[in-house]
Amino acid sequence: MDQLELKKIAARAALKYVKPDTIVGVGSGSTVNCFIEALGEMAGKIKGAVAASKHSEELLRQQGIDVFSANDVSSLDVYIDGADEITPQGYMIKGGGAALTREKIVSSLAKKFICIVDASKQVNVLGSTFALPVEVIPMARSYVARQLVALGGSPEYREGVVTDNGNVILDVYNFKILEPLKMEQTINNIAGVVTNGIFAQRYANVTIVGTPEGAKVIE
Ligand code: 5RP
Repeated sequence: MDQLELKKIAARAALKYVKPDTIVGVGSGSTVNCFIEALGEMAGKIKGAVAASKHSEELLRQQGIDVFSANDVSSLDVYIDGADEITPQGYMIKGGGAALTREKIVSSLAKKFICIVDASKQVNVLGSTFALPVEVIPMARSYVARQLVALGGSPEYREGVVTDNGNVILDVYNFKILEPLKMEQTINNIAGVVTNGIFAQRYANVTIVGTPEGAKVIE
């Protein structure tokens, strides 16, 4: 079974967490694209969605789902999104698609974060397989890069990428994150950092893993 099939299995299993008459938080990425396609079946039953990227917004509208601004809602029941890495505790690295800041904002509004992944995303220590994305105000790029080196990482500028917020991304390689909560705060305290892709403060409450045997739910 290929990776896309496994993503579809996880995405479909997330539908049961979406209640009729609610507004659902929706992340971004290829797994979320599968979720949005499945969510199309509930188009007339939910009030709408808040999206974490312009691309997800477009896909939701194509499915006939109303899209609300994050400023229009005081809270969301659930937020559904993928991850680049996830630990057994639900700590994640996100931002492979450069949408980390909006993902952090929309997921912060939600009571529950449901993370949909295939098994390749499961790790014991964050930073094992994926570089940590950091969204940075353009003029602070070199300064922030030096601070990330001082923390032990090897930052690389993601050439040609501008986020939905008009900023740039530094990907931090060779960076094992042993204390996710502490490191999330430390990096966010560097002047010029908008946010980083460690999701520890807002961890996943439920992880749904797509496997050839079906969806495995970890609560
Ligand atoms: C985008 C993200 C995505 O959730 C993450 O990159 C996973 O993507 P995919 O579902 O395509 O594997 O954080 O910023």
